[in-house]
Amino acid sequence: MSAGRILIVEDEDKLRRVIQLHLESAGFEVDGASTAEQALPLATIANVVITDLRLPGMSGLEFIQQLQSRGIQVGIIVMTAHGSVDAAVEAMKLGAADFVQKPFSLDQLTAIAEKVMAVQSLRAENQRMREELDHRYQFGNIIGRSSAMREIFHTVERVAPTRATVLIAGESGVGKDMIARAIHQHSPRRNKPYVKINCTSIPENLMESELFGYEKGAFTGATASKPGKFEQADGGTAFLDEIGDVPGNIQVKLLRILQERQFERLGSNVTRNVDVRVIAATNVDLRAALEQGRFREDLYYRLNVVPISVPPLRERMEDIPFLAMHFVKKLSAELGSVAKEISPAAMDRLLTHRWPGNVRELENTIERSLVLASGEMLEAADIRIEAPRSTPAISAGQTPLLPEGETLEHWEQMMIREALRRANGNKSQAARLLGMTRNALRYRLSQMGLDSGTPEEAEISGLK
Ligand SMILES: Nc1ncnc2c1ncn2[C@@H]1O[C@H](COP(=O)(O)OP(=O)(O)OP(=O)(O)O)[C@@H](O)[C@H]1O
Ligand SMILES: [Mg+2]
Repeated sequence: MSAGRILIVEDEDKLRRVIQLHLESAGFEVDGASTAEQALPLATIANVVITDLRLPGMSGLEFIQQLQSRGIQVGIIVMTAHGSVDAAVEAMKLGAADFVQKPFSLDQLTAIAEKVMAVQSLRAENQRMREELDHRYQFGNIIGRSSAMREIFHTVERVAPTRATVLIAGESGVGKDMIARAIHQHSPRRNKPYVKINCTSIPENLMESELFGYEKGAFTGATASKPGKFEQADGGTAFLDEIGDVPGNIQVKLLRILQERQFERLGSNVTRNVDVRVIAATNVDLRAALEQGRFREDLYYRLNVVPISVPPLRERMEDIPFLAMHFVKKLSAELGSVAKEISPAAMDRLLTHRWPGNVRELENTIERSLVLASGEMLEAADIRIEAPRSTPAISAGQTPLLPEGETLEHWEQMMIREALRRANGNKSQAARLLGMTRNALRYRLSQMGLDSGTPEEAEISGLK
C-alpha cells in the first residue's frame, strides 16, 4: 500500500527527479511538475504538495493561494532558497504546513513529508468521521453511535408524538435534559411551553405554590394570585428534574395531575384542568427509594410508563470519539481556538478515562483543552483531565488554607496571571478558566493596575 501521494513542483529538472526518486523509495507515490500551472490539476489527487517558491510563471505563493481558493485540501511544504525565510513565513501564513531551506538533505525532506502526510491523513479521517456524524449518529444535537443511544433515539421518535409520560434515568451528565427537550421538540406540542422544574432547587415549603400556583392571600406575602409551573406548561410539556427529591405531600398531588390532569391552586378550592405532558428525570435509582418508602409506588408506576435508561459514558465508549469531535467543532469556533483536530494520542487519553461526570465532564475537558492548545491539533498534553473531585472534608482544621505567609490578594493575582498566560492573553478565555465573567476579570485587572493595553499586561500575555 502506498504511503500517500506527493506532488513536487520544482523547475530544476534534476533536483525534482532526485527528490522524486528518494520519496518513491520511502514508499510514496510521486508526481512532478515544473510549473505551478502544470501542477494545479495534479494537486487535486495529491495528499501533500512540495513546492519551490521561485517558479517561472505563477509564483509559489500564488500557487498556494490558488490551492486554497479552490478548496484543494493538501498539506503544503515549501522549499525556499537559503536566506529567504520571509517568503517561508509568508507561505506559512497562507496555510503551508512546513518549509525546508535549500540546501536540504533528502532525509530531512522525507521526514518532513512523512510528518505532514500523517497530519493530512488524520485530517481526512476526522473529516470522514464528521460526515458520518452529520448523517447517522445524531438525533437533533444529541450525538450517539452506541447501540444504547441509537435505541434511545428510536424510543424518542416513537413516544414523542404521544402524550405518554416518560421517566428518564441516568447518572448526572449523561444527557437527560437533552433527551427530555428532544421529546418535546419532536412532539406536536413543540410550539407550546416547555417548563423545566428542578425539584431539588425549590425549597420544600415553596414547592406546592411553585408547582400549582396560589391565590392572593393564601399565605403571608401572597399579595397577588400567581399561576404555578403546571399552568404555565398548559398545552406543552412539564419536565420534572430530580423527581426523587419530591416530598411525600407533593407526590400525592403529582399523582393526581398524572391521573386526572387536575389540581387546585394553593388557597383555592377551584379545581383546574391542564393538558400537560410530563417527563421526569432521576439520577438516583428510584426503586431503592421505593423500597425505603420514600417514593410512592403508585406515582412510580404512573411516571414509568415509558422508561428511558441512559447508560453512563464509560459503558458506551464508542460514543467518545464522536462526542469529542462534536465538541471540538462546536466549541473551537466559540472560543476562537485554532485547534480543529484531535491527535490519536489525545484520543487515547479520552478513551482511557472513566468519565465519572459523563458527557458533561467530557465537554468541559474538551473546552479546557481547546483553551490550552496552541496548535491546529489537540495533543495528548493539552488534554487536562481533572483529578477526581475528592470532596474535601470541611470539618474544623481540615479545609485547605493558603500556604504559610501567603495572602489571599497575592494568591488571586497569581491565579489571574497564570490564567492570562494560559489563555495567551485572551481575556474571555482567561475568565472562563477562572470561572468568572469577562467583566469581573476586567474589574480585577483594573484593580491590579492592569487595564487593557498596559505594557505589563502585554508582557504577561506574551502579546505585544
Ligand atoms: N449525547 C450527547 N450529545 C451531545 N451533547 C451531550 C450529549 N449528552 C450530554 N451532552 C451535553 O452534556 C451536558 C450535560 O447534559 P445534560 O444536562 O442533558 O445531562 P443530565 O443527564 O441532565 O445531567 P444532570 O443529571 O446533572 O442534570 C450538556 O452540556 C449537554 O449538551
Ligand atoms: Mg439535567
